[in-house]
Amino acid sequence: MSRQHLLTIDDLGADGIEELLDLTDSFVEVSERRIPKVPVLRGKTVAWLFYEDSTRTRLSFETAARRLSADTMNFSVSSSSVNKGESVLDTVQTIEAMGVDAIVVRHGSAGVPRQITGWVDASVINAGDGWHAHPTQALLDCYTLRQHRGNIDGLRIAIVGDIKHSRVARSNVAAFTAMGADVTLVAPRTLLPPAVGLWPVEVTHSLDDVLAHVDVVYLLRMQLERQAQALVPSLREYTAEYGLTASRFARLDPDALIMHPGPMNRGVEIAADVPESPQAVVTNQVRNGVAVRMSVLFRLLGSEVDPRQLVEESFSG
Ligand code: CP
Repeated sequence: MSRQHLLTIDDLGADGIEELLDLTDSFVEVSERRIPKVPVLRGKTVAWLFYEDSTRTRLSFETAARRLSADTMNFSVSSSSVNKGESVLDTVQTIEAMGVDAIVVRHGSAGVPRQITGWVDASVINAGDGWHAHPTQALLDCYTLRQHRGNIDGLRIAIVGDIKHSRVARSNVAAFTAMGADVTLVAPRTLLPPAVGLWPVEVTHSLDDVLAHVDVVYLLRMQLERQAQALVPSLREYTAEYGLTASRFARLDPDALIMHPGPMNRGVEIAADVPESPQAVVTNQVRNGVAVRMSVLFRLLGSEVDPRQLVEESFSG
């Protein structure tokens, strides 16, 4: 990450990822306190600009900002002047005129967060742009893997499903391979991006071939809202070939982890009761999202605060 923005995982590199994961340990500890709040971003203001729906990313960023004592500016695109035709440029300049230190942006078009960096002085955090990138999802996934496995280096990770439309897949391939994991993409040809041959991954069209040899199965949601045409014959056939069905789950190594960024289509990419298995760490991914996003906000906005203060200082009003 530049000192100012977080747009992609590539901006961070392995050292930057490691630094944020180490910092996250402190914020996990803060989150477990009786009063899970520290005054390190008092006086800072963070605004949300979500042009696409979100539950996890938006709520965890809001929680993260509040736990750091930042003020938040809640902006709902669906009830804003965007509906009267206001452009992204005019919207962000309007928000900035009210005084913000960071803008967290989700947009359906790739590149919009980077474009915004040219229009405002505030820090810009990419909360998902089109098919392009979702860096904080990749960071919380790395943190979750490190929490459960101690190390990402050498892990064999299968990312399964709609790779083509997935910003999560792109950011996770970048993050997992930077941290030394061996990544295999598992998908039908129609759900792979044309340039996948240039990615630092193996590719297979058979989930059954890799199932017994992986440490992590990372399932992706079928993104029907981004598919302009039917790219699989039917959801039933997709599940038969690529779903983590009960019988495939039974063939996994008992220590293998199951991950999903959410929201899940139970019964499509994952059997309805598999998320309740102890091997599934989906809830931990969500929980870690708060502490990881605290790290990102702190790293961008808390430059004048010594991180050691986090250990010593609890919120005293
Ligand atoms: N994983 C994720 O980005 O979830 P939301 O769309 O709910 O934010």
